[in-house]
Amino acid sequence: MAKSPAFRCSSCGAESSKWAGRCESCGAWNTLAEVQPLSEGPGKRLGAQRGSALALTDLASAEPPPPRRTSGVAELDRVLGGGLVAASALLLGGDPGIGKSTLLLQAAARFARGGLKVIYVSGEESAGQVQLRAERLGLTESPVRLAAATNLRDILTTLEAEAPDLAVIDSIQTLWLDTVEAAPGSVSQVRAAAHELTVFAKRQGIAVVLVGHVTKEGTLAGPRVVEHMVDTVLYFEGERGHPYRLLRAHKNRFGPADEIGVFEMTGRGLVEVKNPSALFLSERGEAVAGSAVFAGIEGSRPLLCEFQALVAPSPMAQPRRSVLGWDGARLAMILAVLDSRCGISFAGLDVYMNVAGGLRIGDPAADLAVAGALLSARHEQPLPEGAVLFGEISLSGGLRPAAQAENRLKEAVKLGFTQAILPRVRKQQGGTDGLRLRQITDLAAFAAELFGDG
Ligand code: TYD
Ligand code: MG
Repeated sequence: MAKSPAFRCSSCGAESSKWAGRCESCGAWNTLAEVQPLSEGPGKRLGAQRGSALALTDLASAEPPPPRRTSGVAELDRVLGGGLVAASALLLGGDPGIGKSTLLLQAAARFARGGLKVIYVSGEESAGQVQLRAERLGLTESPVRLAAATNLRDILTTLEAEAPDLAVIDSIQTLWLDTVEAAPGSVSQVRAAAHELTVFAKRQGIAVVLVGHVTKEGTLAGPRVVEHMVDTVLYFEGERGHPYRLLRAHKNRFGPADEIGVFEMTGRGLVEVKNPSALFLSERGEAVAGSAVFAGIEGSRPLLCEFQALVAPSPMAQPRRSVLGWDGARLAMILAVLDSRCGISFAGLDVYMNVAGGLRIGDPAADLAVAGALLSARHEQPLPEGAVLFGEISLSGGLRPAAQAENRLKEAVKLGFTQAILPRVRKQQGGTDGLRLRQITDLAAFAAELFGDG
């Protein structure tokens, strides 16, 4: 029988079966400590001493659904599942510098103006720095109360006394508990602080928003360890150098996950983007080789975006496959399907794939747009003018219908597209007047029809 790991690093959380002076995972010294099992296992009994009996209830409850408070920022409220829920804990994760503090200060101000009592605790910046930002954002008149603190004991004492409706903690990595012997930002501290705050939120009936940085190197404990403790996890994403920011619901106990909100970072803070499709296609000129417009769905909303491919002879024995904004493994799969089902090989060719605007797409229906961009780049021949594409490609080379086809087509009509290339669907799509539907059964037929391959 496999024995469970007996030592855990207090800095990074890595587990190990034997003790060592230095953690193999993060390199910290003297951090490995023996893990004490919670239960002695089936051999040992709890003994004669009883706990108190739990009160059991039925599934049907007389309690009304949790009341929600809206901020008035539609992009934020939708991602929250219709507004902020009292007595809940929310985690906002994202790369440093992406705009988490800016978003939360703006949201806090909107909630405060809507009548909520809001406290913003900054552990990263001084009150003066936050005030400067508030000035830049034109929020100085908002009744948000500020504090700069990192000691969780002090923060909880303050929150208990003030009893706000909403508390923003920026960020969870700066907090420390005097009961935990580890540096702020370590897994033990982050986990303990998140636990205290979550329990506090439920007990006091306040909504707590925690900020967490994700670092690619993993040197700071990422908010991943906190994800299962909180009710809602939102990620704030975007590429540096692009002004667009996406707020994405990753987990939501009070609403749909995978919902997105789109913002633009301007000189005066974040501005809602009401029509993201128009924004993500705005820099597109005439149809060029290697460009395909994907009619996608993000959350409950259609989103049109552009996939760009570049294919060039490779000087290397192992050609490059580089993807930005999409899944690299899926690109490899489509290249393999093109090779074995359609006889179109990309051997000896470097392939670069990019989603314009710094967007990240997870919708599997993007397969056909990717294949279209790849074939178009390889043949140096643009896809038909005014065409959108979508459809999932299976390993057999067949095309599978995508969810919410009608919404995708409607959005394409709205943005002036004239044709859609999509998998064969059984029922007639409504509301797509003026759009020519080119329904295709498999990838080989697609390559043959558009580029004369095969
Ligand atoms: P910030 O909210 O501090 O990021 P985070 O809390 O995620 O680390 O945002 C930092 C970036 O946002 C910074 O590079 C400057 C930019 N920014 C603007 O472009 N406009 C603004 O109005 C503000 C406040 C920030
Ligand atoms: Mg910040």
